[in-house]
Amino acid sequence: MTTVLSIETSCDETAVAIVNNRKVCSSVIASQIPIHTQYGGVVPEVASRQHVLTINALIDRAIREAALDWTQIDGIAATVAPGLVGALMIGMSAAKTLAILHDKPFVGVHHLEGHIYASYLSAPELQPPFLCLLVSGGHTSLIHVKDCGIYTELGATRDDAAGEAFDKVARLLNLGYPGGPIIDRLASQGNPHLYPLPEGNISLPGGGFHPYDSSFSGVKTAVLRLTQKLQAAGQELPVADIAASFQSSIARSLTKRAIACASDYGLDTIAIGGGVAANRGLRATLQAAASDRGIRVLFPPMEYCTDNAAMIGCAAVEHLSRGHVSPLDLGVQSRLSV
Ligand code: KG4
Ligand code: ZN
Repeated sequence: MTTVLSIETSCDETAVAIVNNRKVCSSVIASQIPIHTQYGGVVPEVASRQHVLTINALIDRAIREAALDWTQIDGIAATVAPGLVGALMIGMSAAKTLAILHDKPFVGVHHLEGHIYASYLSAPELQPPFLCLLVSGGHTSLIHVKDCGIYTELGATRDDAAGEAFDKVARLLNLGYPGGPIIDRLASQGNPHLYPLPEGNISLPGGGFHPYDSSFSGVKTAVLRLTQKLQAAGQELPVADIAASFQSSIARSLTKRAIACASDYGLDTIAIGGGVAANRGLRATLQAAASDRGIRVLFPPMEYCTDNAAMIGCAAVEHLSRGHVSPLDLGVQSRLSV
């Protein structure tokens, strides 16, 4: 049994959790979304300041809610890459300080590893190998998880990440930030078949399409053209129908690629991770296509799809139980492949 206190501060959520193997003992999050909303996106300097203001209280709360003391904690983990450098520094420094103070091993975790292992929280029996469809605000990848720390990226977006596309389309429809949950909600009231939108295919020189890579900037541009055409015709924008059509095109695109990839590599499980894993359209489309082919699809619990520290703790437990410990002079990195 391994118990880890984990910290996540890579972007606009300050989060602390205590995880015992694949069970969450406590998980607390201070979201900065209301603060960044007034700027239309995340302001790095503001994010760092907010992390500084909230981190200590969150650590105390996580310990209190888990009803544990420091002797029961086996290691301290923090996200060290990728993300906003100033923001990552706050969480990592707090984690290293606690590790030194309480004489515990420190584990630096890659943010995307956290998203990969979030599915362990809903499926504790899951073991590699499996395919991870990682769909967040910054990344869209198909990752072959061979073992803890052994990953191969088999497909990726060539431009916008799926979450980024949701956020940009929401912005051009004047819906607010972050766009994913707003579009998800609106889409449930709209007709997904009203406006056929591109599925993000990448043409190959010899003809046909790339089986695993995708592009979402074209879908976003198609939505822009559609809204311009409707506005030029003096029509009020059917926002719910546009949201539903857009969401359906992203869900179909991701589903097609994930299923092709899992089938080609003989993987019988697809674990989804990242904020877009919360999307109800994607969940339904992927689930239906996978069950037709006997592939198991696993989603993290809803609250662990978007950024949180429990997923970082899950990844750290995997590393610690294999004896992987990070040096105390480890730095943070804004970009790093998984
Ligand atoms: O994983 P995450 O919290 O942060 C990153 O690591 O990027 O993902 C945030 C992204 C945002 O782009 C947000 O709009 C999107 O996830 N998102 C959603 C939903 N909830 C969050 N996208 C579609 N549907 C949702 N329900
Ligand atoms: Zn994330």
